[in-house]
Amino acid sequence: MTDTLYTGISQLVTPRPGPQRGRAMRELTVLEDAALLVSGGLIRWVGRRVEAPATAHERDLGGVAVVPGLVDPHTHAVWAGDRLSDFEARVEGVPYEILLARGGGIRSTMRATAAASRDELVALARPRLQALRDSGATTVEVKSGYGLDFEAELRMLEAVRELALEFTLLPTLLIHVPPSEGRAEYVRAVCEDLIPEVAQENLAQAVDVFCEKEAFSVAETQTILEAAKAHGLATKLHADQFHAVGGVELACELGSLSVDHLEASGPAQIAALAASTTVATVLPGVTLHLGLPAAPARALVDAGACVAVGTDLNPGSSPVFSSQLALALAVRLCGLTPAEALTACTVNAAAGLGLTDRGALVPGARADFLALHSADWRDLAYTLGASPVRGVYVSGQPVKE
Ligand code: NIG
Ligand code: FE
Repeated sequence: MTDTLYTGISQLVTPRPGPQRGRAMRELTVLEDAALLVSGGLIRWVGRRVEAPATAHERDLGGVAVVPGLVDPHTHAVWAGDRLSDFEARVEGVPYEILLARGGGIRSTMRATAAASRDELVALARPRLQALRDSGATTVEVKSGYGLDFEAELRMLEAVRELALEFTLLPTLLIHVPPSEGRAEYVRAVCEDLIPEVAQENLAQAVDVFCEKEAFSVAETQTILEAAKAHGLATKLHADQFHAVGGVELACELGSLSVDHLEASGPAQIAALAASTTVATVLPGVTLHLGLPAAPARALVDAGACVAVGTDLNPGSSPVFSSQLALALAVRLCGLTPAEALTACTVNAAAGLGLTDRGALVPGARADFLALHSADWRDLAYTLGASPVRGVYVSGQPVKE
């Protein structure tokens, strides 16, 4: 096992390991003139350069800031077709939910995705995942959910499995929109056929449901997520994107890993999240692209919740191909401080995926880290439209330098 000592680190910045809530989200450790010892894909030692253990192999990063690799806890990176006409229609005033209710929107992506082969889906998703990784995402969650039928859902998850040979991915089965007829049969088949098969084939680690007026009701969501739990899968929800119909409360009750969106959440939902272990994941790209109100991330942190940030990369509501941009937008649109945003995009995002082995630069953690172009880590939250990320290291190996 080769030990590599990374030096030339102006600032080594890390949140505390594990999920952080409320005020603790701001408490970063910033070590100046630091060094980082990596071996076997893990961090072995972190400290001041002058105190570093002697090693044969040293890499000088040239005096830049080092932060943990970002974790993107919410993407729909596998899709076919495009939503450019939707985009134009929305800009001219047609709301997202109306496009969906008319059979467009998500349903049009479902038609295109269902018609694509697994190889086509892999080829379409690869450059998107490459863009996320270049932006600093060292672990990325990817959802299914654009399959019209179960075969297409499984094909999406198989595409994710194939891409996981090249990227660090966590697959989630997303039950996205109900069929226009036969919803009860559909929900039953999801619980009795699809979930057992996905669990059996180990194709996903969690099940997510879009709980919304235009999608699944709270009762349907509960039925599906109880089936997921019964098959040993974790649960997540898309909730309160347009209406607070009870999805957040359900997530907290079920002990879901995370509940994501929250643009329509109010004081009752904030209080429920603050009292639960469920991660509140906000997706500022949706606020930017759909012109929705921002999720109340500031109020969630102030109330003591565990807040994470994701890109929600997808063709309809968030064509955001950069996890660093999501972090920067969380500061501008959701009122997080740069320190809170870094915590939200690292240890808290990891917690939203059930992971505690990454997101903080501490001995024993995965050696997933970023070398910035700048000597000051705050450039990560400041820069818009160019990448402040110079180097990306996954399990101690450079994947961008
Ligand atoms: O997280 N809101 C539901 N699902 C996705 C959007 C998917 C799409 O528009 O294609 C979301 O925003
Ligand atoms: Fe989403």
